[in-house]
Amino acid sequence: MGDSSSSQDGVEARKAAIDCVRRIDEYESYANIVLVNAFKKWNFEQRDKNLITEIVYGATRMQRALDWAVDRYLIKPPPAALRASLRIGAYQLLYTRIPPHAAVSTTVEASSKKNRGVVNAVLRRVAEGLPIEWPNESIRLSYPDWLIELVESEYGMREGQEMLEYMNSSPPVTERDDGYIQDLSSQWVVENIDIQPKELILDLCAAPGGKATAMAAKGACVVASDLHHSRSRRMSQNIKRLRTDEVLQVTTDGVQPCFAKSTFDKVLVDAPCSGLGVLHRRADARWRIKRSDVDNLAILQLKLLRSAKELVKPGGELIYSVCTITEAETSNVIKSFTKSVDGLKPVVINDSRWRKKNGGVFLLPQDHETDGMSMFKWEVK
Ligand SMILES: C[S@@+](CC[C@H](N)C(=O)[O-])C[C@H]1O[C@@H](n2cnc3c(N)ncnc32)[C@H](O)[C@@H]1O
Repeated sequence: MGDSSSSQDGVEARKAAIDCVRRIDEYESYANIVLVNAFKKWNFEQRDKNLITEIVYGATRMQRALDWAVDRYLIKPPPAALRASLRIGAYQLLYTRIPPHAAVSTTVEASSKKNRGVVNAVLRRVAEGLPIEWPNESIRLSYPDWLIELVESEYGMREGQEMLEYMNSSPPVTERDDGYIQDLSSQWVVENIDIQPKELILDLCAAPGGKATAMAAKGACVVASDLHHSRSRRMSQNIKRLRTDEVLQVTTDGVQPCFAKSTFDKVLVDAPCSGLGVLHRRADARWRIKRSDVDNLAILQLKLLRSAKELVKPGGELIYSVCTITEAETSNVIKSFTKSVDGLKPVVINDSRWRKKNGGVFLLPQDHETDGMSMFKWEVK
């Protein structure tokens, strides 16, 4: 990426980036929301917006590595505003092609007056010390220890690290024919559901409606239900925008849904999950998720599958998908589910783009530059 020459040679863009990174760190705000608000508050050209987005997302993803790179030159932990300046400065030095003198001078100028001396001194030392010799892979890859240990223990050192490395870059944006932005992995989940025209399909965890609208576009009548009212509102906007008349929206808890037994030809459980397959899309997620969340979500996923199974007509299909690849939320949930429920016949998914595992399929993000995703199907007898 080159440097921006608009808005005072990029100083205003760095000011905005510092403000965003500080908010994400200090108030645990969501990176995407902070950026949307920043672009409402300040009037930036698209070029500056791209630069700010790259710096804010990058500095958030790489914060463990960046903090290690600058902390060597500090005598005590810096307060939030100084921390933010150092992170965005070091991010530009380590991970972009912005010339070091431009990265340092714009970041120094964008910092508050009292921080400028330290920012200048520390960033110069970081620039002089490139390339960095990292003390270990966890710091270089910039993930919490538990997450690295989990991924490496399940996928091995090489593939695990490849996956984590891949999720340190910005993901590609893919658009469907109808203009809806949806990752290929989600499109491939729908491609692997054998949808017949006019059949009745329930999407039990449907918001914001990506898969529900894709299934309706293939001719199904879709009931799109979700627990969360605010997410359902976004779904109505998407349904309206895409003019998908065949989607009926319902707000209900999927664990105790308001539908009669054996109603649907197919039920999709695109369950809430740890999202470890989409960490490249959600820059702050790796610092937000806890190890215990994985197990708690697995319990919820099992409950959702049990209630969903009851809603499928005999001879119909139950489909489970999650944008994660942890064993706890895939193979282990499936094992407990199939052990505790009668009348399920696994349906083999034959799609060479996906890897097979324990009767289902999964994608690692680096396989096809998609999100990480897992999928299972059963016929309900
Ligand atoms: C992975 S997202 C679904 C994405 C959606 N299927 C799509 O393709 O756009 C999981 C959804 O599950 C919803 N959810 C969480 N707990 C739920 C529950 N108990 N019952 C129903 N939906 C729930 C969340 O609000 C969230 O919208």
